[in-house]
Amino acid sequence: MCILYMAEPGSAAEWRQVFSQQAPELDFRLWPDAGNPDEVQYIIAWEPIPDLMQRFPNLKALYSAGAGVDQFDLSQLPEHVSMVRLIETSMADIMAEYVVFSVLALHRDIFDYQISQRERCWTPLPIVPASERRVGIMGAGNLGLVALDRLRPFGFQLSAWNRSYKEVPDGRCYVGREELYDFLEQCDILVNLLPLTPETQGILNAATLNRLPQGAGLVNVARGAHVAEEDLLQALDGGRLGGAVLDVFDQEPLSPDHPFWCHPRVLVTPHIASNVQVKGAVAVITANVEREQRGLPLLNVVDRSKGY
Ligand code: NAP
Ligand code: GLV
Repeated sequence: MCILYMAEPGSAAEWRQVFSQQAPELDFRLWPDAGNPDEVQYIIAWEPIPDLMQRFPNLKALYSAGAGVDQFDLSQLPEHVSMVRLIETSMADIMAEYVVFSVLALHRDIFDYQISQRERCWTPLPIVPASERRVGIMGAGNLGLVALDRLRPFGFQLSAWNRSYKEVPDGRCYVGREELYDFLEQCDILVNLLPLTPETQGILNAATLNRLPQGAGLVNVARGAHVAEEDLLQALDGGRLGGAVLDVFDQEPLSPDHPFWCHPRVLVTPHIASNVQVKGAVAVITANVEREQRGLPLLNVVDRSKGY
């Protein structure tokens, strides 16, 4: 059984080592040394691969080296080839750290204090108790639900917005487009953890941002294309938003002249909120190889009708 690694070259040595420890029976190959392409059954990739099926006619599963699969054109993948997401628990833990950090920063008015600091102004603001701060997460999936769990001990008023109903202990789950505005109107801090699909592209735009309470905070850790960047800048400049913590952007890397870099109410990080942890990812792949041999459905397969 042959698996070809075509993702981030900097991590290849770690993947090779973990495969050799956890699944020595798998023939691990590192792109561009693919050997005989007819032997390749599994591929790990982050970028789309042109002419995938022509080049690897015996492919059985394409593993996205991450949680998102929006970069792949699923319509080009034959039905018998599974698209699998390499999600595992550490990725959700790491994402939850970033979400907690960002929510706390916004909750404790960090952008106002940074501005005061630059001006050498000693300006204490009223402290809002967490019990009076409403934090909402768009996308109550693998990552969103763990982030909600980690925010709960702080005592925030929590809610989620999701396609289907999910239990939000001590909070409310808003469902579907018809409840989107109701959800937004009660989010003092909004966290985006949606997958990027045709339905969610550009979902954070003037119409939706204007539904947020005045001075709300935004955390975008999903995809840059969820946000209409011009609308976000206007919302920040007009005071609708008090701050935005942004980890993902329409164009990555963010261009050096982008206004986000120097905006006093934006914190930019370079798409580092979370990533695949190799040990857990290899465990998913080996579990799937075993499941395939036993005729069981694979774990973490993308539902093509939904696009995530
Ligand atoms: P997931 O498990 O598939 O969860 C996605 C959630 O979004 C699901 O609960 C789904 O609802 C909901 N959803 C999808 N489309 C919707 C719509 N149109 N309206 C309302 N809700 C909708 O995904 P995940 O593993 O949590 O990952 C989420 C995203 O995080 C990824 O797609 C990726 O873009 C991003 N990400 C970013 C980083 C980073 O470093 N910045 C790292 C990892 C992942 P249902 O439950 O009803 O299906
Ligand atoms: C990172 O953005 C991922 O989708 O895993």
